[in-house]
Amino acid sequence: MTDEATPLFDIELRLLLDAVYLRYHYDFRGYAFSSLRRRVRHAMTRFGCERVSDLQHRIIHEPEFFAEAIQYFTVQVSEMFRDPGYFRTLREEVVPVLTTYPSVKVWVAGCSSGEEVWSLAILLAEEGLLERSMIYATDINPDALAKAQRGTYRVDRVAQFSRNYLAAGGRRSLSDYYTSAYGNAMFDRRLTQQVVFADHSLATDSVFSEVHFVSCRNVLIYFNRALQDRAVGLFCDSLVRKGFLGLGSKESLQFGAHAEKFEAFAPEQRIYQRKVPG
Ligand SMILES: C[S@@+](CC[C@H](N)C(=O)[O-])C[C@H]1O[C@@H](n2cnc3c(N)ncnc32)[C@H](O)[C@@H]1O
Repeated sequence: MTDEATPLFDIELRLLLDAVYLRYHYDFRGYAFSSLRRRVRHAMTRFGCERVSDLQHRIIHEPEFFAEAIQYFTVQVSEMFRDPGYFRTLREEVVPVLTTYPSVKVWVAGCSSGEEVWSLAILLAEEGLLERSMIYATDINPDALAKAQRGTYRVDRVAQFSRNYLAAGGRRSLSDYYTSAYGNAMFDRRLTQQVVFADHSLATDSVFSEVHFVSCRNVLIYFNRALQDRAVGLFCDSLVRKGFLGLGSKESLQFGAHAEKFEAFAPEQRIYQRKVPG
């Protein structure tokens, strides 16, 4: 048995999650346990803690330490135009429907450092929809949100972003949207004039109203079933009738509590449409 999987480790980990919730109101209690174990183990190694309770002691007594440690509770992997087929389908099949509304609200839930938001802003701009769109970009990780707002990415990541952009049906060259300096690509701030970056937790916070499209990709995989149901319930209650929900490639509504409230719109790209109730 690995160290992480011992009963004592799990007991201490549950106590840590309770302590984090009581002290800071961050609720990781409904996260998939096996992946939390691995991440907390990394944090213990990084901070030289022998036991989870040592980590807990520092977290509770040192808020600035918690700000650092929280990075280990969430996974921040992202990419612009990640899974290009998703963005191509949005462009070709979802945007034509969104265009029929006088104004469009989009919610990017779990936006991490913003790659998904900037991709959507570029796509909406190219389809002539950005000016009448409002995008809420939310996450629980304050550092990630600050990066998302800056829209500055290491230039060595941009070749992959550009390949994805073209595979997603990009109409120009990605380089039209950024300037390079000091090893970074800085994306054009005009793209995010219509974006509100905000702290919002799918575990503890409530709905946004009258949203036409929710994109929540590669977030639900880290949640247990009950928390997935809570999050999808929020999306359902936030969406207008016939509004769209896009998930990540490893995520689906199948078997979830709200599955019957949606119909598959582009199932191979995990894009669903909220049914008209009744
Ligand atoms: C792997 S990233 C996904 C980034 C982006 N959506 C993508 O697909 O490229 C997962 C994000 O979910 C965020 N997250 C984790 N728990 C959350 C919660 N309860 N509410 C909102 N976001 C959460 C993490 O902070 C992280 O930024």
